[in-house]
Amino acid sequence: MAFKKRTHDCGELRLANVGETVALNGWCHRIRDLGGLFFVDLRDRTGVCQLNFEIERFEDLRDLRHEFVLCVTGEVVKRAEKDVNRKVPTGEVELDVKEFDVLSTCDVLPFPLSDESQMKTAPEDLRVKHRYLDLRRPVMYRKLLIRAEAVRLIREYLHERGFVEVETPIFTRSTPEGARDYLVPYRLKPGRFYALPQSPQQYKQLLMVAGVERYFQIARCFRDEAQRADRQPEFTQLDMEMSFVYQEDILAVSEGLTRHVCNSVIEKFDLDLEPVGSFPRLTYEESVRRFGTDKPDLRFDLELFDVTETVRTCEFGVFRSAVEAGGIVRGVKYPGGADLSRKQVGELENFVKEFGAKGLAHLTVVSTDPPECKGIAKFFKREELTVIIGAADAQPNDLLLFVADKEAVVCDALARLRNLIGDRCNLRDPRKLLFCWVLDFPLVFWDEENKRWDPSHHPFVMPKTEDLSLLETDPGKVRADCYDIVCNGSEWASGSIRIHRPDIQARVFSVLGLDEEAQRRRFGHILDAFRYGAPPHGGIAPGIDRLIMYLTGDENIREVIAFPKLGGGYDPMMDTPSEIEPEQWEELGLTLRPAEDD
Ligand code: AMO
Repeated sequence: MAFKKRTHDCGELRLANVGETVALNGWCHRIRDLGGLFFVDLRDRTGVCQLNFEIERFEDLRDLRHEFVLCVTGEVVKRAEKDVNRKVPTGEVELDVKEFDVLSTCDVLPFPLSDESQMKTAPEDLRVKHRYLDLRRPVMYRKLLIRAEAVRLIREYLHERGFVEVETPIFTRSTPEGARDYLVPYRLKPGRFYALPQSPQQYKQLLMVAGVERYFQIARCFRDEAQRADRQPEFTQLDMEMSFVYQEDILAVSEGLTRHVCNSVIEKFDLDLEPVGSFPRLTYEESVRRFGTDKPDLRFDLELFDVTETVRTCEFGVFRSAVEAGGIVRGVKYPGGADLSRKQVGELENFVKEFGAKGLAHLTVVSTDPPECKGIAKFFKREELTVIIGAADAQPNDLLLFVADKEAVVCDALARLRNLIGDRCNLRDPRKLLFCWVLDFPLVFWDEENKRWDPSHHPFVMPKTEDLSLLETDPGKVRADCYDIVCNGSEWASGSIRIHRPDIQARVFSVLGLDEEAQRRRFGHILDAFRYGAPPHGGIAPGIDRLIMYLTGDENIREVIAFPKLGGGYDPMMDTPSEIEPEQWEELGLTLRPAEDD
């Protein structure tokens, strides 16, 4: 069907175009029928332009509805000063419509996509079900642009530095990254399955054996794991690997890339964010000690303080018995928290209990010298209070909150409480992106439930040379050449130097309790490859979706993905996961019954 193609984009018209006859194509964004006057904001991907229709000239004008697709021809005219709209770039002009055609009509919309104030409360499942409409909103389209620009800049930065983009398979075998695999049944040999990659980890290491030396990929990854605000079952990583490098080389490339990409996007899109500076570095041990977590939000200080030694002999039974049982006592300061009501402090206690803490003891500081506190103060000697106040660096009116338990419980509960206090006290400046490095992760963690050592990252991570001698005697003390990038308290990237020597790999496997048979079954292909001259290598993988969340300030990853999955991995737009035909069950040799209707 013929239509008159645009001569200009809607968002392009300015005073300089006044007097020109132009053709526009686009969607009816807003319609204002003022009786004698009839206006439409016509929208395309570049913006909106106001169309001014002479009522008498067009009979069927009042049939127009939101989101009809039009082609219009008319003359660009200057608006009277009182009618200028400063909020849009085209606000000084409008189009005096001479002709128009409706190219497509539109049903009643499921949500008012041209009204951002109403869209704030539009149900998300409806938005995802009709994502093709949701994405028409200029705010959503802008996120696609930001994402596309970030990916373009990443490619450009890495190409300039000699990296080669290589695509690796989606049908592969299990690559453990700590989640369940998504499996694809193999028709030709029933009972066999491909696994979708949790990451291209093994392929990128094989590419290093292949001599590629500098690899990257904008890689789709698939993980069947509990969803969270920053997790999707399928997501995108910038996957990188380099050969003949030390950890420092990888840190330098990835830090340089992050700053370049963020700062260019911030500038191009005029985002309300401060430029990203160089990344502070913390060791894992330091990060956990100071902030209770390996994902610290460094936009604010409020470091945890330890009072284990001070309270070892105090009269507060809860603290004393926790320490006697081998636990620790740490606290966090709530600046000015003396004003909180009993109920509010109770809410903080309930909050930490959700994360396994048994309770939350508190001291309200009345004066620091002489030390005077309320709360559990009666259990402490004056000298003990002085030490606690000093450790907390407290001022009068501060509230000190304590958890006593095993170290892992204390750290987790207080780290979360610290973030909550950061929010409540407005310490988490939304205009800052504070990236940092967390280095020297432990190689393995003890899994109490299964009574075994688990890799803190994956089995191919290189132990630190200086800790190698502890591998068999005290594996928990072995640090690895393993690093994360954290931004504002969220993990952005993980990476490591990999083991390229079979003797070290064999030692790590035995710490992990993988006997020879299990090693061959699970990793035989990669171990074989490593016998053919594997170079020293390492890499990193930052999450692209999360980067866009940082840039757009979104708190849910779904907002920055064109077609996201809802909870449980459901896609209401395609109505999938979906049932398959009976013949397909047969063909695939699957004997499970088809899912019953929910
Ligand atoms: P890791 O498993 O830590 O490392 O993942 C790296 C980064 O990927 C992002 N990410 C996710 N983003 C959205 N949804 C998810 N479900 C999700 N899971 C992970 C995060 C995370 O920091 N192969 C290693 C990397 C390496 O060692 O080179 C890996 O995948 O931003």
